[in-house]
Amino acid sequence: APDIPLANVKAHLSQLQSIAAANGGNRAHGRPGYLASANYVRGQLDAAGFSTVLQSFTYNGATGYNLIADWPGGDPNDILMVGAHLDSVTAGPGINDNGSGSAAILETALEVARQSLQPVKHLRFAWWGAEEQGLRGSQFYVNNLPAAERARIKGYLNFDMVGSPNAGYFIYDGDNSDGTGSGPGPAGSAALERTLQDYFTSIGVPTRGTDFDGRSDYGPFIAVGIPAGGTFTGAEGTKSSAQAGLWGGTAGQAFDVCYHRSCDTTANVNDTALDRNADAIAYAVWTIGTAVPPA
Ligand code: PHE
Ligand code: ZN
Ligand code: ZN
Ligand code: ZN
Ligand code: CA
Repeated sequence: APDIPLANVKAHLSQLQSIAAANGGNRAHGRPGYLASANYVRGQLDAAGFSTVLQSFTYNGATGYNLIADWPGGDPNDILMVGAHLDSVTAGPGINDNGSGSAAILETALEVARQSLQPVKHLRFAWWGAEEQGLRGSQFYVNNLPAAERARIKGYLNFDMVGSPNAGYFIYDGDNSDGTGSGPGPAGSAALERTLQDYFTSIGVPTRGTDFDGRSDYGPFIAVGIPAGGTFTGAEGTKSSAQAGLWGGTAGQAFDVCYHRSCDTTANVNDTALDRNADAIAYAVWTIGTAVPPA
């Protein structure tokens, strides 16, 4: 699998920050900075050869948008989706939450194009609107999938906050192997977890599970039985001393002290965490997307 260029991911984050600055300081649902963000990402994907659709919906009296990008080819009955929410809160530019996931999956998609990847699976990338209002964009997408199309989606990978400044390395606990918190995800989620785990094992970075607690856009997918997975580097939760021992950083401090604040800028990103997670995304897309299914 390719090494995703960190500099390119960071260049997308700079663009998102500029978009916020030019639009009242945020990229929130119903604000002009959101649509400008979606148009920026769309422009990159269109130029690379993706087929893009801007799906609109209404929430709370404002128009929201999901950006859906399909890479031509692959088995249309065997779809791997990769998604991130593109909206911020109104308080700030939302660079770690969730410019980080948005930029990391964008650069992975652009790498697919640069390599003219011909995957076995059909690859579909998604940037969700109005996550911060309660997963509204991803819920709208899943609600409006025809049953036959829903059945073709064999997995969904979610990336929300993958560059937290005081980072942890969390992978959604698909099989509830730690026996705590929410139950397991739909059958198949454990395999997605394992693939992401394999990447971090290969670079010698320890990980921990994080529960499907319903706080990000995998929620509507697991609710209809679609296997899900993904990574997360922590939000407002406090890093424990055990976690600081595992990963470095500062015990007793939040994974992201600027969570949902105006200081969630390009300065609020841990380059190492962002780089590792971008490479993990690419590893998962290449590994899962190009695997020949059993006969
Ligand atoms: N979805 C939350 C937000 O955008 C953050 C979060 C991501 C929390 C993943 C838990 C797990 O604010
Ligand atoms: Zn890298
Ligand atoms: Zn948020
Ligand atoms: Zn988020
Ligand atoms: Ca668990």
